[in-house]
Amino acid sequence: MRSSPDSQSLWQMDRDHFIHPYTDYAVFEDEGSQIITRAEGVTVTDAQGREYLDGIAGLWCVNIGHGREEMANAIRDQVLQMQYYNPFGHSTNEPASLLAAKLAQLAPGSLNHVFYSTGGSTANDTAVRLAHYYFAQRGMPQKKKIISRLDAYHGSTYFAANLTGIQGTKIGFNRIAEDMIHYLSAANIYRMPEGMDEDSYCDYLVREFADRIQQLGADNVAAFIAEPIMGAGGVLVAPAGYHKRMRQVCKENDILYIADEVVTGFGRMGEWFVSSALYDCEPDILVSAKGISSGYIPLGATLISDEIYEAISKPQAEAGVLSMGFTYSGHAVACAAALKNIEIIERENICQHVKTTGPSLLEELDVLRELPIVGDVRGSHYMVGIELVSNKARKQSFEAAVGSAQRVFKRCLNRGLIVRPVGNVIVLSPPLIFTEQHCKQVAATLYDSINETTAELKVAGLVMGD
Ligand SMILES: Cc1ncc(COP(=O)(O)O)c(C=O)c1O
Repeated sequence: MRSSPDSQSLWQMDRDHFIHPYTDYAVFEDEGSQIITRAEGVTVTDAQGREYLDGIAGLWCVNIGHGREEMANAIRDQVLQMQYYNPFGHSTNEPASLLAAKLAQLAPGSLNHVFYSTGGSTANDTAVRLAHYYFAQRGMPQKKKIISRLDAYHGSTYFAANLTGIQGTKIGFNRIAEDMIHYLSAANIYRMPEGMDEDSYCDYLVREFADRIQQLGADNVAAFIAEPIMGAGGVLVAPAGYHKRMRQVCKENDILYIADEVVTGFGRMGEWFVSSALYDCEPDILVSAKGISSGYIPLGATLISDEIYEAISKPQAEAGVLSMGFTYSGHAVACAAALKNIEIIERENICQHVKTTGPSLLEELDVLRELPIVGDVRGSHYMVGIELVSNKARKQSFEAAVGSAQRVFKRCLNRGLIVRPVGNVIVLSPPLIFTEQHCKQVAATLYDSINETTAELKVAGLVMGD
């Protein structure tokens, strides 16, 4: 067993040396990080022994819950049997092959082929590289442009960060491939243009897509990429029929549809994958990570259709190879963990549990709408966003400096609940083993925390029109 330093020394080492992702260093330099020492089921415990209900499944990923011994055993057994060997070309391993076949079975339509990577960002990079390669193989090397959306989140490698459409993530970084990536409007029902209803808003978004393709030239556009529900952009649910119609536009223009199911896959909305099952939209490429291994170990998977596979598996030149790959593509231990994770989801009927229990999270949270700073409560199953506004009638956002969701986050933390503040939105994405009782607890804690925050913001004169 590794010996652990006392928590104060650990706090100091972390603050001095660990560059945390997506962190406000003005705050971090003073406060450092909360050290999480234990995790079990739906709770985590910090170094002071305080226990918290995990309302965010780590980071949208611990779908089966924390601390499963079966997962530890599967990982241990694979390490002892064969932890790693070269996946390039001539060799493979049992878990990677079994998992590829299992994913092909779980995925819709002809998504029968898997390219492995190490997470969502690398899986999205892979999707774009394969889309480019596919068209090059078909004799259309100029078909390279990718159409993404404002407020989309696709990751943090340089290319995935550029696919991402959240403006706040761009500051201080260069736009690469400026001419290659183009953004449409986010599909945001809460903020749809005045005078529209859901149907006319959908028409508007689909028309915007068709117009953009015309403007760029269909011969230059390789793919459209979209999350079924935008996650980090604020849990934005598209209008009914949106994905199906966008998919149709793709088909008409020989453009690939890439579904980024990094968050929505593996049961978060009661389905293995939601594109086909809930939106009648069968993608050409489906991107998965997070819930694929429930965060026990990193893994990404990019699934492609038979048609794409057929094109990319032909030699691009005599003795040519598909020149892309990662040392850890199809890592035996990660794939063994994913297989066990899938076995647990199947055995415990977790998708069915989410189908029946998931809707009660939104139902319980509905009461938050009566609070003066709650503008919207939205999402699906175990994927929820609560948007805070300074003026409800005008849907006016708080200035970023107010840190509205951050204030709620801190109050929830004091009450033993972890939620995720993203701008003015509070995000919930609990482990999928959450019960109705947990949903009630989350709603009650949020109600009290938002209520207190409202009072504080009112005193500061930051709440309007009440
Ligand atoms: C929809 C989506 N795609 C891609 C990613 C990037 O995944 P990763 O952080 O594993 O690289 C995320 C991460 O939150 C995500 O939400």
